[in-house]
Amino acid sequence: MILTTADYEAMEKLARVQLATSLPGPKPICLVGTRGLDGRSNLAPFSSVTHLGSSPLLIGMVTRPATVDRHTLQNILDTKSWTLNQVTESIYEQAHQCAARYPGDISEFDATGLTELNHAGVTAPFVKECPIRYALELEDVIDIPVNATRLIVGRVVLIDLPDGALSSDGTLDLPAQGSIASTALDTYYSISPLARLPYAKP
Ligand SMILES: Cc1cc2nc3c(=O)[nH]c(=O)nc-3n(C[C@H](O)[C@H](O)[C@H](O)COP(=O)(O)O)c2cc1C
Repeated sequence: MILTTADYEAMEKLARVQLATSLPGPKPICLVGTRGLDGRSNLAPFSSVTHLGSSPLLIGMVTRPATVDRHTLQNILDTKSWTLNQVTESIYEQAHQCAARYPGDISEFDATGLTELNHAGVTAPFVKECPIRYALELEDVIDIPVNATRLIVGRVVLIDLPDGALSSDGTLDLPAQGSIASTALDTYYSISPLARLPYAKP
């Protein structure tokens, strides 16, 4: 099957979104924890989370255009702080529910029953149920003018892991912690390792 740009543009809107968000393949799924200037906590699932560099440790994520209130984006711009909490098999339904457009005065923690956890020196809240969680500070917001999305770039300032989860070579056993993957905006996958290969050389 061949799809041209014209074929794609002729598709129904939701089908286009489904295809566009499936093409990159499985991605991580994290709950982004933020706090407003009024102190209220906010959670939203994001799958566009990607590693941008190891020294310094930078992680990026893409936010949708600010055509409606975007609490995550606004809170990050206001406080420069957010957390990423890897969604697990135990909480994916609650995490998915956090995508609902709750008004600003409702915390997704209260709406879904997830538990807020705080670390001294970090403004944004963590999710207690997520074993792999870390905090970031805003480094940059890069506009993507063609569709008014933005790449939010953060520097990791604190990593909170279960005892024993980190191997001496830096490996994190993600399946053992229940971490999952996602495609589109509605499909979740268990993950299992296939192989670990040595560094490729010519
Ligand atoms: C599986 C999944 C992945 C998502 N990934 C993103 C993403 O990468 N970027 C984004 O802006 N919104 C993403 N969303 C949508 C946001 O979670 C949704 O717009 C949410 O209401 C934003 O909440 P906020 O206004 O509190 O920031 C995703 C939703 C789901 C269900």
